[in-house]
Amino acid sequence: MKLTNREHDILDGKYGEGMAYALGIQIAVGNAFDADCFVPVTRAHVALSAQDADLWFVEKLLSKGAKCKIAPTVNPSINLKYLNDHLFEIPEEGKHIVSATNEAYRKIGAQLTFDCTPYLQQNVPAFGEVVAFSESSATPYVNSVLGARTNREGSNSALCAAVTGIVPHYGLLLDENRKAEIVVDVQADVKSDFDYQILGWCYPEKYRGLEIPIFRGIKSRPTPEGFMNFGAQLNTSGNVSMYHIEGITPEAPTYEAAVGDKKIKEHIVITEKDLQETKERLCGAPKKIDFAMFGCPHITIHQVATVAEICDGKKFKVPVWLLTSSLTKELAERMGYNAIIQRAGGHIVSDTCIDVPPCWQPYYHGVGVTDSPKCAYYNEIRDIEFIIRPLEESVQAALDGEVLK
Ligand code: F3S
Repeated sequence: MKLTNREHDILDGKYGEGMAYALGIQIAVGNAFDADCFVPVTRAHVALSAQDADLWFVEKLLSKGAKCKIAPTVNPSINLKYLNDHLFEIPEEGKHIVSATNEAYRKIGAQLTFDCTPYLQQNVPAFGEVVAFSESSATPYVNSVLGARTNREGSNSALCAAVTGIVPHYGLLLDENRKAEIVVDVQADVKSDFDYQILGWCYPEKYRGLEIPIFRGIKSRPTPEGFMNFGAQLNTSGNVSMYHIEGITPEAPTYEAAVGDKKIKEHIVITEKDLQETKERLCGAPKKIDFAMFGCPHITIHQVATVAEICDGKKFKVPVWLLTSSLTKELAERMGYNAIIQRAGGHIVSDTCIDVPPCWQPYYHGVGVTDSPKCAYYNEIRDIEFIIRPLEESVQAALDGEVLK
């Protein structure tokens, strides 16, 4: 890679051992992807995981004196206090790793947002802005919906970018790599936020490649929640860091604009029958449930309002967990939604992920309901079975104590 004088100075340790170490890693990444140079970034999001490797890496940077030049937002882990008070006593080992991770990220200069949808409220890049975002729903949202530019960073490479303020220039940062090569003809009526969960799961089952798809035939603009669901499932069922929707996403005002000079490699058709078959395979049969979980990715205030409206004046038959950012929780408090949900017996918990062990141990080997295929998929390894239904039906199931249809 061609380095500037400043980048040589960083490597020589003029800006500290920590920044030199981070840049060394970024040069290795850049070389692996044939990057020619570095470019500045203005934002970063680190998908911290509160697990051993993540903690090891941030502590390694700290031991070399690293400090973030750009304060990155960070993913959720476990809200120890809330879950200790309302679910179970988190084992010592779990408490230690969460506290140590939080402390390490505080010291290195991250914003402790603990939220996996920063692109909706706390760290929102503008069109064309070059950023370094990790987290599966964040990368496609940033690239596809906002038209900003990020590669699919790992938590470690995003943290290196936050420390140095630059990223290797390759992949989705380049115009020519943002064009569509796969045409997806959607011959189905895709409208609701839940439809996007299913479409997002279905597409990678039909095509496994890494090329950028353009979805044609979608008639109305998805809501922010629809876009969020779509990206989360595309990147759980498959690996899609960017997509276009013809006439809707900003780099696809027309089919021609989205495809540019690229040759189309594959035409995929997705019909109502395909979506129905995905649903049948994925969503599970009606049965009694032990709990309900929403917020993978973190639930928005609009979704909180939907839950509050359905449960107002009623009682849940099983525990209900809504995972969200602390900002959304605060807003839910002000709007009176939190009080309604609490009176029904549910919980809004901030800063917490569905996938950080040992957080949800009391539900291991149990059955839950959720609106998120990602939540169901990640919890298979803990022997938690999830029935998947649209949000409204899932909330009703929590009131009934079972999924009835
Ligand atoms: Fe968010 Fe954790 Fe799900 S980071 S998207 S709640 S796996």
